[in-house]
Amino acid sequence: MCGIVGYIGSDNIKEILLDGLKELEYRGYDSAGIAILEEDEINSFKAVGKLKNLVDKTASFSTNAQGMGIGHTRWATHGKPTELNAHPHLGEFSYVVHNGIIENYQELKKELQSEGVNFLSQTDTEVIVHLFEKYYHTLQDPKKAFVETVKRLKGAYAILLITKVDKDRIFFAKNGSPMIVGNDENGDIYFGSSDAALIGKAKEVIYLDDGDYGWSSLGNIEIYNDGTKKELNKKPLIGDKVSAQKGGFRFFMEKEIYEQSEVLSDTIMGRVLDEEIKFEELDKSFFEGIERIQFCACGTSYNSALACAYLFERDAKIPTSVEIASEFRYKDPLLQKDTLFIVISQSGETADTLEALKMARDAGLKTLSICNVDNSSIVRIADRTLLTRAGIEKGVASTKAFATQVMVLWMLSLYLADIKGTMSREEIKGEIEVIRHIPKTVVVEDRLHEKIKRLSKRYLHGHGFFYIGRDIFYPLALEGALKLKEISYLHAEGYPAGEMKHGPIALADSELFTIALMPKSLHYDKVKSNVEELSARDATILAISPEEFELADDFIKTKHADHPMSEFFEMMVITQLLALEVSIRLGNDVDMPRNLAKSVTVE
Ligand code: M6R
Repeated sequence: MCGIVGYIGSDNIKEILLDGLKELEYRGYDSAGIAILEEDEINSFKAVGKLKNLVDKTASFSTNAQGMGIGHTRWATHGKPTELNAHPHLGEFSYVVHNGIIENYQELKKELQSEGVNFLSQTDTEVIVHLFEKYYHTLQDPKKAFVETVKRLKGAYAILLITKVDKDRIFFAKNGSPMIVGNDENGDIYFGSSDAALIGKAKEVIYLDDGDYGWSSLGNIEIYNDGTKKELNKKPLIGDKVSAQKGGFRFFMEKEIYEQSEVLSDTIMGRVLDEEIKFEELDKSFFEGIERIQFCACGTSYNSALACAYLFERDAKIPTSVEIASEFRYKDPLLQKDTLFIVISQSGETADTLEALKMARDAGLKTLSICNVDNSSIVRIADRTLLTRAGIEKGVASTKAFATQVMVLWMLSLYLADIKGTMSREEIKGEIEVIRHIPKTVVVEDRLHEKIKRLSKRYLHGHGFFYIGRDIFYPLALEGALKLKEISYLHAEGYPAGEMKHGPIALADSELFTIALMPKSLHYDKVKSNVEELSARDATILAISPEEFELADDFIKTKHADHPMSEFFEMMVITQLLALEVSIRLGNDVDMPRNLAKSVTVE
């Protein structure tokens, strides 16, 4: 996802900004830019692709004097990854960089355009710099103009703004996207969207809270919230880059589990409106003539497709099938032109998925990819793409990529239900309400994590794990089992709860661990009786449910019981944490499990 850096001081401003951006590369980006205010001039440079392109572009530019600068790595959300859409965005005399999404940008853009403002980019960010200059023109005071600007913004943002009308200050604001400001012993000021950009530079830092805004000049930081000036809560900055990237977590996988709330907010932002789902990348005509959907993917991405196929049939009433890409390729599939072929891939480079996509394209099918990496091979080949906006996922075991895939597919099922009229606006509004709450549903509470840490010690042996569930909780069971086996090397299977009695129940004894997904809002009684059958055969049961279950050997009580998708996301986090804690106790390398690679680019 996007990264932000900023600096005020007299060291080499250009190098400090480029260096900071380099440290944020791990988050993923598709373009980058910097703007430097030195003496009376602002110089700005942007480049698409790798940071190296920006470094080359700025090669003949040097900074020598006291000044300031802002920089950004952009992961495209609104508008393609082009130079025009790259940050910093400029007005007449100011430049801005921004992470997050301004939800009301269209309304603000219309307002500014009606007042004669010309927009250069397709981004939501550009409204910020024009709003600031509009208020500056009337108030003639940059601080007041910035405060008025921030008041108008809805959504998530971390913002840095520099302007020729105040050559001493960087203006900043934070809401929903991370932002850190720090200083060194000389009073030089540093900004970053993550610690990693400040390591080795700032000595002490302040982690801004939501609603914070302010301005900073050499040796001075002023932070306000709701009109009140805040005390500066400075903390020493740790000095190790890798642990900064891990943000204090033991493993990237753990960090990525905790990030799910933030990335899911990114995934839905700008796409979930009051009464409908909207995708900038799609228009309704794309679905003309489509009578069925074929999903195709591997591993975790396959599991997300399998879960959401239930939603496509139930909500959009469209026949939907799901294939594992490596099987699909060699089965001489019957490909019909009325089929929309949807591939799902975190990396966009998985060889089997890519080849399946080419087969569908060559057969003349419309294709859509659900992908996390823009400009990847899959994105370049598919007719259309919906980016999942999970940011870079480092842990080999996929977590936040799965969460965002499910979210995009769920939204797509509602988008289709709307087009086809299979759900009423009221019903869609109801679903949208639930979607808006999902980022809160996946927040990891200390109590839950502690409980799973303790409980994991009982699950380090045995002759196998069965994760069981019904309906969408069956693919979640598959995904839970996949997580556990990948990083713990213990045998685990996902099974439809109702299938156990058709064979696998023969394995049941006290050394068979059953992880039972027992949501209250979907087939509770059915699953309960399946789990009772296993318990009667002495299987060890870990029940995950909002409803107390007396036959459980271990029980994790969930909070949500009103909507299957809320229960799904809550249980997803629990299964991820369980796999993580078992793996840590077994002393395994959680992020780089044996025999596995993050991206499988061979058959
Ligand atoms: O990048 P992709 O989503 O196409 O990758 C597909 C699988 O290789 C991947 O999901 C794999 O199963 C994960 N390591 C699971 O955690």
